[in-house]
Amino acid sequence: MGRIVAVTNLKGGIGKTTTVVNLSAGLALKGARVLLVDVDAQGNLAMALGVSPRRTLYDALVDGARAADCRIPVRHNLDLIAADATLLTAQPTIARRPDWPRVLEQVLRPLRSEYDFIFVDCGGSLTVLNLNALHAASDVIVPTTVEPFAVRGLEMLVVQLSRVKGSAGSLRAIVPTLFDARTRQSVELLEQLRERYGSLVTAPIRINVRLSESSAQGKTIYEYDPRSRGAADYAQLVERLSDLWGFAPPASAPPVVPAPASAPPAPRGDPPVAPPPAPSPPDPATPPTVAPNQEPVVTGAGSLLSLSCPHCGGPLHRATVAGYRVVYCDHCRYRRQELASGVRR
Ligand SMILES: Nc1ncnc2c1ncn2[C@@H]1O[C@H](COP(=O)(O)OP(=O)(O)O)[C@@H](O)[C@H]1O
Ligand SMILES: [Mg+2]
Repeated sequence: MGRIVAVTNLKGGIGKTTTVVNLSAGLALKGARVLLVDVDAQGNLAMALGVSPRRTLYDALVDGARAADCRIPVRHNLDLIAADATLLTAQPTIARRPDWPRVLEQVLRPLRSEYDFIFVDCGGSLTVLNLNALHAASDVIVPTTVEPFAVRGLEMLVVQLSRVKGSAGSLRAIVPTLFDARTRQSVELLEQLRERYGSLVTAPIRINVRLSESSAQGKTIYEYDPRSRGAADYAQLVERLSDLWGFAPPASAPPVVPAPASAPPAPRGDPPVAPPPAPSPPDPATPPTVAPNQEPVVTGAGSLLSLSCPHCGGPLHRATVAGYRVVYCDHCRYRRQELASGVRR
């Protein structure tokens, strides 16, 4: 049975959807089977992944459609049940049902055995559907900005979680987001968070414009810029939560190749574009994304290869980046990437 992970906070605009996308995509790249469920009527998950599904969660919650018929594949190992504004009208209908807190749980139950993780992307207020997400969740992750009000709001959320679930024991991680290490207040508040919540607080996700650019382009950060700080931070979160949840990549999976970063979003109603059968071609036009002295974005060690760059003849390096094996040249802009581990199905 897969874990159902609610990603929630009482505030909007603090990086919940960004965390859902890049945490789940990282786990999927490691070989986990992942389903994403959007319970926010803004429908940002589909946009952030560059798809426009015809069927949504509304059909399953209100019209009695099978959840399996409302999901679409969005990447290797990664499926989505999307939301849109119709979800607003679903809430009063659900609220009238005597079993209202368990409607989402019932809808997702038939799918649970098909996935290692089901991530529920919550909206930024205490709606009927967000409460449903908390009821359904085996695990809760709370992204939070590191600001005075946000830290106080976190306490309210923990109280709410205890009310809904009897305890806050399902809280697995507090993820500081939009973190700016240059401001002393952020550093001090992060310290306070750690004193209050201890090892629940993960390493912060730093502010990185590549993250907002990637969602605007409908791509994960690993597709858009795997050497960015955003990719490094989310890759680290993927590793930390994989350890916590005891998830290890399947050993025998064949290697597969991700869709190129330039893959267009699927047209409305169609499944997403399938990944191509060959490695992404080198893209000399891609601008360098890290300064030479910036820390490398690796989850394994970068290593020097005995191969030469096909463009400039310089030495090639290899690093593992959030599940991708990336071969790159520091002298020119050559880069090639492929999945380090494969899909399970
Ligand atoms: N670490 C980050 N650095 C820069 N921009 C970010 C970061 N995390 C999120 N954003 C941007 O902030 C905005 C709100 O993020 P989002 O994930 O949609 O928040 P929520 O789901 O909580 O409403 C989006 O434009 C997103 O691209
Ligand atoms: Mg959101």
